[in-house]
Amino acid sequence: MTVNWFSHMGESVGPVLIDEASIQKRVGELGARITEDYRGRPPHLIGVLRGASVFHADLIRAIDLGLSFDFIAVASYGPATASSGEVRILKDLDESLEGRDVLLVEDIVDTGLTLHYLRQNLLSREPKTLRVVALLNKPSRRKIEVPVDYVGFEIPDRFVVGYGLDYDQRYRNLPDICVLNLP
Ligand code: IMP
Ligand code: MG
Repeated sequence: MTVNWFSHMGESVGPVLIDEASIQKRVGELGARITEDYRGRPPHLIGVLRGASVFHADLIRAIDLGLSFDFIAVASYGPATASSGEVRILKDLDESLEGRDVLLVEDIVDTGLTLHYLRQNLLSREPKTLRVVALLNKPSRRKIEVPVDYVGFEIPDRFVVGYGLDYDQRYRNLPDICVLNLP
């Protein structure tokens, strides 16, 4: 698709890494696996705002089970394209996790620092189980080992935008996942 937006800080949208049709197909597969794995024990999905919001909205409709969901918003201190590991909760969950089968929905696991923090935080609320589904995984960037139970796509060490992922809050509404050429 053509991107008609002004460059914000000298960046430009580069090639499509994963197109819309491939994303939809893979989300359908993840939903089918989750449906099998959670049959008889409805999952409570937690979407991590804002990046996972688009993935979350598609994933819940690919799961053929009764389920519930909630959102948590986090921010990590640091520059636009790197995570410092210092995470802060901007909006907490509305509901308790105690005794529930919780599935954390993330957009991307990069260094793993955000997910590590979130896992510790959510585990302290005593869910019955906690698993993680991430649309994208950049294993080559990992700084801390952290389990990811369901992964959409493993991608190389490139900064990507679209399908919820941003650069300085922009490009989240691109339907494809694209490489961003940084200034
Ligand atoms: P981590 O703490 O380094 O694993 O980073 C996690 C967060 O950094 C993600 O939830 C994203 O918000 C952001 N992030 C990491 N890599 C990218 C990328 O390639 N594009 C857009 N955001 C990214
Ligand atoms: Mg982000």
